[in-house]
Amino acid sequence: MAFKEKINTKKLPRHIAVIMDGNGRWAKQKGFLRAVGHEEGTTAVRDVVEGCAEIGVENLSLYAFSTENWNRPKLEVDTLMRLLVSSLRKEIKTLQDNNIRLNAIGNLETLPKKARKELKEVIEKTASNKRMVLTLALSYGSREELTHCVKSISDKVKNKELSIDAIDESVINEHLYTRNLPDVDLLIRTSGEQRISNFLLWQIAYAELYFTSILWPDFRKENLFEAIYNYQNRERRFGKTSEQLG
Ligand code: IPE
Ligand code: IPE
Ligand code: MG
Repeated sequence: MAFKEKINTKKLPRHIAVIMDGNGRWAKQKGFLRAVGHEEGTTAVRDVVEGCAEIGVENLSLYAFSTENWNRPKLEVDTLMRLLVSSLRKEIKTLQDNNIRLNAIGNLETLPKKARKELKEVIEKTASNKRMVLTLALSYGSREELTHCVKSISDKVKNKELSIDAIDESVINEHLYTRNLPDVDLLIRTSGEQRISNFLLWQIAYAELYFTSILWPDFRKENLFEAIYNYQNRERRFGKTSEQLG
């Protein structure tokens, strides 16, 4: 039986986050330039976005470019930024057809002007879509996000808009780029690496982690459904005992 049929649609993770890794190795294995791997990665993005929408996942967040990725060779960074622009242009139709709203998190001002403009346009055009929120993490780093969060809260305290005593977890949540998103339930990382690489550190506090050796360009809906099925067969205890959950 296909994993899709095994999934309990009443127990779906509300928020899935994906560290899409392995484009470079995929290309290298085939004797291609790394750019070809990134291009192929966009096919996997489309498939996974559609897969999530099909079964009713409400939030999907994709790690597309980290703050650390700026340290890659300029040629690769340029390729990734160009690919971002062309994908946004191409995939607006997928988003509209599937009633998906685009969202972006990260230090977005550092993106090239063209990418910012395209991003803004697609975000505006899909603003009233209701089926799913697709969040792209671009120039995103969790430490940068937390630094930004601390600064904005401090600013409010300084201006007496907020008292120190009023700072709690929900105030912190409201000052993160992810302010409108629920906590991550399931975090998937492809390519066999088992690390977080500065992605959503606060938001994954109680996420279930799923690592697969599949390289991102080869990842498809069925692999996503397998990850969700695996997630549904875990016991999330949130500090309690198994007996308490019964
Ligand atoms: C993920 O693939 C894409 C980005 C980080 C932008 P990589 O480019 O990291 O691929 P590997 O890890 O070198 O195989
Ligand atoms: C993480 O992948 C960032 C993205 C997937 C966008 P990397 O390939 O940059 O991570 P590290 O450097 O191997 O940890
Ligand atoms: Mg990598």
